[in-house]
Amino acid sequence: MADLVLQNLSIVYGDVTAVDDVSLTIPKGEFLTLLGPSGCGKSTTLFAIAGLNQPTSGHIALGDRVFFDGSAKTTVPTERRNIGLVFQSYALWPHKTVAENLAFPLQLRRVNRADRDKAIGEALDLVEMTPYAERYPFELSGGQQQRVALARALVYRPSLLLLDEPLSNLDAKLRERARVWLRELQERLNVTTIYVTHDQSEALAVSDRIVVMSMGKMRQVGAPREIYEHPKDAFVADFIGSSNFLEGTVTERTEDGATVRLANGAMIRTTMAPTTSADVVVAVRPERIALVDESGENTIPVTIGHSSYLGAAYQYEVTSGDLALRIQTDRPIDAKEARVRIPPEATTLFSREAVKDVADSDLAA
Ligand SMILES: Nc1ncnc2c1ncn2[C@@H]1O[C@H](COP(=O)(O)OP(=O)(O)O)[C@@H](O)[C@H]1O
Ligand SMILES: [Mg+2]
Repeated sequence: MADLVLQNLSIVYGDVTAVDDVSLTIPKGEFLTLLGPSGCGKSTTLFAIAGLNQPTSGHIALGDRVFFDGSAKTTVPTERRNIGLVFQSYALWPHKTVAENLAFPLQLRRVNRADRDKAIGEALDLVEMTPYAERYPFELSGGQQQRVALARALVYRPSLLLLDEPLSNLDAKLRERARVWLRELQERLNVTTIYVTHDQSEALAVSDRIVVMSMGKMRQVGAPREIYEHPKDAFVADFIGSSNFLEGTVTERTEDGATVRLANGAMIRTTMAPTTSADVVVAVRPERIALVDESGENTIPVTIGHSSYLGAAYQYEVTSGDLALRIQTDRPIDAKEARVRIPPEATTLFSREAVKDVADSDLAA
């Protein structure tokens, strides 16, 4: 099968390493998302696959077709890579109708009139825009323009579909609908898709796998659930969802994990084995911390502080001595004092050193 393979891809601009030694295999038909904060190298990676920039080194191939090879100095131009591209700005030609916008890439490929009309009809049908074929882009809503841009990228049956923040100009409601629809369409066509977004909920919702990037590097590659539940480092734990980072010291190593003393003296059992250092950070997501009535293992008495209403939930800043936590609940808390439980299996342990490195770089940025 025609896997897309990136090997040791690096792209350097002056003293900025936009893409730093990225290696990745994307199987045929996969929906892969590049996710990370602005400036982390998502678009630069995507453009390299498209042939819109010149990598500094590395290798890009789709099956046995080499797109780029740094050592052999091979570069295949964009138009010979058979790639469908959609950008945030849909870049439709304003003086062409919808049908003419779709016809253009086919004319470039010297597709004859009859085949062209058939392909245009099919692509418009796919994105449910058949009735709009004779309209101009300015006569369409943002969501409709986005569908036309997608139809134009699909009309010549590309081997790869590359999407750079394609939904970010749509309002929140439409964006949610569009991503479901996009995913269904992608599955139906079984076209290998690389999707760029900085929106973690979008990434979690649509992807087979997510690549979390920061500062040009791949931090973690995995299925959405794996990345959410088992973040490999503190950057991922904080960027995907949000996490409390509680400093502590390992006091005991057990068969199935460890016991950690937190800043307020509370002893917390965790099901994760610590790495070498005893100085650790316990990461736990606000929504995994539970309000409880009874004291017991892993429970902490807390004072309720500032609250924020999130629509579907309430978030509270709570403290216990030197310990500060964010928790999330379904219902408002009326009391000033409460008791919370940190489930051992909801914790992830990182060495304090590793978290410090992250804090110094990305989290601070
Ligand atoms: N043509 C270029 N010249 C110089 N620097 C660039 C160029 N393209 C991208 N960069 C830099 O590379 C880094 C990654 O950019 P980009 O891939 O666009 O990030 P994003 O993840 O937001 O898509 C940024 O620091 C950006 O300023
Ligand atoms: Mg970008």
